[in-house]
Amino acid sequence: LKIIKMSGIRTFTMLKPDAVEKGHVGAILEQIASAGFRIVAMKLTQMTQTDAETFYAVHKERPFFGELVEYMTRGPIVAAILEKENAVEDFRTLIGATNPEDAAEGTIRKLYAASIGENAVHGSDSDENAQIEGAFHFAGREMF
Ligand code: PPS
Repeated sequence: LKIIKMSGIRTFTMLKPDAVEKGHVGAILEQIASAGFRIVAMKLTQMTQTDAETFYAVHKERPFFGELVEYMTRGPIVAAILEKENAVEDFRTLIGATNPEDAAEGTIRKLYAASIGENAVHGSDSDENAQIEGAFHFAGREMF
């Protein structure tokens, strides 16, 4: 019997409503693929108020919570599960700091994010959250 669930090889991402609105999906996916990530699951979808409140529940006491939920529900997102060795950490390096003003040159947020409130892309912050967030958006039969 082989254990097929390896740790550390998957992360979850969302290309957020601002990135979709501005037509940056193709360029961002190109950058993700060029960095060596394989797409395991992907779809265009829109989060409901309840979806966003659940997804971001850990931040519900933060002052920006209402703003974050409103932003994340205002239009479609691209949700995806990505595979690569050291996926979580490498993806967060690729996207750059939460605030695009602090993001390194060439990172996705430096290139495409307008502000800390509209920062173009999400990347899971741990293997555990990558698993939880991926399962939030995708059924097993949608993962390849
Ligand atoms: S922290 O302090 O490390 O917990 O914050 P961080 O993980 O960087 O941010 C958590 C998510 O909240 C969003 N965020 C904000 N939205 C609106 N306004 C402000 N000021 C703000 N600060 C952080 C941030 O984009 C994160 O969203 P995700 O989707 O997880 O990237």
